[in-house]
Amino acid sequence: MSDESQAPKEEGFDHSLKLLKEGYEFIINRRQSMGSNVFETSLLAQKTICLSGSEGAKLFYDETRFRRKDAAPLPVKKTLFGEGGVQGLDDDEHRHRKGMFMQLASQGAAQEIRELTRAYWEQALERWKIRDEITLYEESKKILTQVACQWVGVPLDDGEIDKRADQLSELFESPARVSLGHFKGWIARSKAEHWIATLVSKVRKGELNIDKERALHQFAWHKDLEGELLEERVVAVEVLNLLRPTVANAVWINFLVLAIHDHPDKVEMLRKEQEERLHWFVQEVRRYYPFFPFTAARARKDFTWQGCQFEEGTLVLLDLYGTNRHPDDWQEPEAFKPERFAAGADTPFNFLPQGGGEYETGHRCAGEWITLAILTESLNFLVNKLDYTLPEQDLSFSLTDIPAIPKDRIKMTHLQPK
Ligand code: HEM
Repeated sequence: MSDESQAPKEEGFDHSLKLLKEGYEFIINRRQSMGSNVFETSLLAQKTICLSGSEGAKLFYDETRFRRKDAAPLPVKKTLFGEGGVQGLDDDEHRHRKGMFMQLASQGAAQEIRELTRAYWEQALERWKIRDEITLYEESKKILTQVACQWVGVPLDDGEIDKRADQLSELFESPARVSLGHFKGWIARSKAEHWIATLVSKVRKGELNIDKERALHQFAWHKDLEGELLEERVVAVEVLNLLRPTVANAVWINFLVLAIHDHPDKVEMLRKEQEERLHWFVQEVRRYYPFFPFTAARARKDFTWQGCQFEEGTLVLLDLYGTNRHPDDWQEPEAFKPERFAAGADTPFNFLPQGGGEYETGHRCAGEWITLAILTESLNFLVNKLDYTLPEQDLSFSLTDIPAIPKDRIKMTHLQPK
């Protein structure tokens, strides 16, 4: 490890191109070569401090030291997050807005998400039985668009499913693309915000009647700390903060199939539909496979930590992928071992697939329980309800693609109920 008195620094004006080239391994590569969980580099031509491992995560989630305002780079705001949403808020404003999301997280809602997930898998299987081949990634995006819209209260005609699934997935597929592919994401965001803002306007005018418990209704009538309704565009950003990441679970559904394929010895224990075994497997998929590479914040004030000088406004990245596989925090991190979760190997600071720390007061993902409900139900369906064949295809994925997805998106044939 590094000298306590000074954290290592990567010299040079800007390493953004290396970040694009190295993808998920950018921080891991430097942590290993510099021998330190905290180091300085330069990204987008600004000083950037990278943190890795549970100690770094504890620091990162200390709200007295870091803020989120202005932390996300423009390409991420223009595609993934949108502008004015919960991700960029701090302090009381953040807690108030986050409360709006966390109110949705009741037990009953998790149950509803599971039932919707099962129902739409079953419906899809009826269509697949007569098809020679399907591409699971594309199909699961459609399943999850239906789950998300029904749960949130967004009306969705059958003829609209493909279009909305494409629009929502552009938002998480495009942020790290270069050139034209990236700008497709900007267009998709503008169209998606227009779609939802129009519905919000109708809800407010009483032209669209939806259940008062649904998020679309709740968010449309949510008041900020001054007692004012949110701008329609901001409500749209927050409703998309429910729809987009729900659909993004299609990536993990691809990795569920890959894990089933690559680790048959771990699948036998799932056959009895035991809830806790399914849960461990899902947790290990979320730990082992990549999704979000890192998350970003800015220092609120000047301070020094482990020899590294943080100045007010410094950009700081927390390595999510690398912390999930950090050798100081996990035994045999490169092995796929669902049973590690039986012994409670995870803490709020070493297991960061959807961020860490606190839900209510911090920026940890508001949809972790929804993700678990979708993935547990999907895993059960894949193992216990569905017969399929994986024809010859490229199952590999690249750690320089963000998000990483198996190259052929999981092709399946001979689909039948079990
Ligand atoms: C594919 C599954 C998902 C992944 C990989 C994921 C990942 C993440 C990550 C990494 C963060 C940022 C944590 C941080 O900066 O500290 C986050 C925040 C967030 N996620 Fe998720 N998420 C997923 C699913 C969901 C779902 C299903 C929902 C809602 C239905 C959701 C809603 C949110 C919201 C609202 C935030 C912002 C929280 C805040 O800033 O306080 N996510 N998610």
